Amino acid sequence: MIWRGGNSDSCRQARIAAATAAAITDRPAPTISGLKDRSAAVVAGKVRLKQMTPSEPSASGTAVAIDAAFAVGPEVLLLALMNDDSNSASAQGRLEHLIKALPPESRLPSYRELQQRYRVGPATVRRVLADLTRRGLVETRPGSGTYTAPPRLTTSPADVSWQTLALGTKAGLGADLERMVTPSPADAISMASGFLDERLQPLGLLAAAATRAARRPQAWNRLPAQGLSELRAHFATETGAALTAQNVVITPGGQAALSAVFRHLAGPGDPVIVESPTYVGALAAARGAGLRLVPVPGDRDGMQPQALSDALVRTSAKLVYLQPRYSNPAGTVLGRHRRREVLDVVVAHGAFLLEDDWMRDFDLGQPSPPPLVGMDDDGHVIYLRSVSKPIAPGLRVAGLAARGPALVRLRRGRISDDLFVAPVLQQIALDVLTAPGWSRHLGSLRRALRERRDALVGAITAKLPNCQLFIVPAGGVHVWLRLPDSCSEPDVVARAAAAGLVVGPGRMCFPGEPPAPYLRLSYAEADGPALVTGIGILAAVLDDSP
Ligand SMILES: Cc1ncc(COP(=O)(O)O)c(C=O)c1O
Repeated sequence: MIWRGGNSDSCRQARIAAATAAAITDRPAPTISGLKDRSAAVVAGKVRLKQMTPSEPSASGTAVAIDAAFAVGPEVLLLALMNDDSNSASAQGRLEHLIKALPPESRLPSYRELQQRYRVGPATVRRVLADLTRRGLVETRPGSGTYTAPPRLTTSPADVSWQTLALGTKAGLGADLERMVTPSPADAISMASGFLDERLQPLGLLAAAATRAARRPQAWNRLPAQGLSELRAHFATETGAALTAQNVVITPGGQAALSAVFRHLAGPGDPVIVESPTYVGALAAARGAGLRLVPVPGDRDGMQPQALSDALVRTSAKLVYLQPRYSNPAGTVLGRHRRREVLDVVVAHGAFLLEDDWMRDFDLGQPSPPPLVGMDDDGHVIYLRSVSKPIAPGLRVAGLAARGPALVRLRRGRISDDLFVAPVLQQIALDVLTAPGWSRHLGSLRRALRERRDALVGAITAKLPNCQLFIVPAGGVHVWLRLPDSCSEPDVVARAAAAGLVVGPGRMCFPGEPPAPYLRLSYAEADGPALVTGIGILAAVLDDSP
């Protein structure tokens, strides 16, 4: 047996053998075949080949298939080619046909073997293989041998025009969300993301928790789909409401939870009330669920109860999405005087309020009010808390709390979405949140963010006199900056990026047309000096604006 794959891996050998056998046995018409050199008649130094019709494909196993393929196929064709120059063109064509049918990168017999087996001169072998090499069908690898060519990259672009018909006119999601999660270039100053940079992540706690979690006996087994009960109990207790582990469903991050609520508690065409501006990911999830966005403007104290009431009357919406603590992007906290009123309005309309408490760990001064869910006894508030912001973006774990039939729908809906969250991740989250070092981490995180916020606000005040900070937020990770009305926001964003500063375009946070140009500037990723440099870049960009 002389023909071997260049790779000794047996699976690859078997694949090559199967493909080779198929290439040979599939031939439809009588052709040159069937000879091993022991059965070939040698006449005056030449081998005479018989014409025969191929038999049925052999089922006698890999070894035989390889044998048949190697002995019956290319070698014989090479032989024909080498011994009958007058028939060289057609023999070469058949060889070419066979080589094309072989898997890419199959090793051919050595020159010496070819010469000895078929008693032809080295010049003939060289000539045939050189021709095939020139045409890209085989290639020589110095020190290794001659191989069929590697797979060719297709040169014509894929034709996906059929998808236009298949997908119809239903609008897809825009690029905003994609932009939000795309990391900034390494050499840019990033003020676009709300995720902490590595310097602020509790990497020591995470590493220790990950090691422990991976070694646990049941680390890779199933848990109840609702999630790790100790983690659910932890999230329930944190709310300060009369909730238990039974009320909490673990999801792979806050985004998945938003999407689950919008899809499982509402249906396509249903209205959902959102603050304007609001979190771009919530807008995307609601649009993805086919919901109709109903914007309600907020002010420095968050959502206005009267505007919410009007919107509920007008639309009969049964779902309201709200971030009462350090809202994204405005940075507002729902005023203490408004909290009861907002909840009463929701209750009066028999609606749900999805409370996205994404910044519950990010008070940078006085503690903000506790969650609204603690004021609700009857299952109106669905409460969401994720750990991706205070711990690390890659720890995709969040807790979603609800009561009654809504809880059942969410629990079952989440199973239909993706069964359950990796137990190891849940265990890591629990370990970090309950570690003795957790409150120390929060303390140093808040200190660092306070310094960053102050540096950013100071630089904006000093260098951007024509821009207006909506508020100086008492917590959270970003500020909301109104640009001069004459500015083109996309132009400012693009020119800042070209100058090495990545900022969040404000327009993506509005469910409808933006009332003015805005930027969302985050201090979660860049440190104080970088933020000051970034604002210098922005000032130069604005100075240059037409
Ligand atoms: C307001 C708000 N809610 C929810 C999320 C989702 O976060 P994650 O899926 O990382 O938990 C984000 C992410 O930036 C956010 O800003």
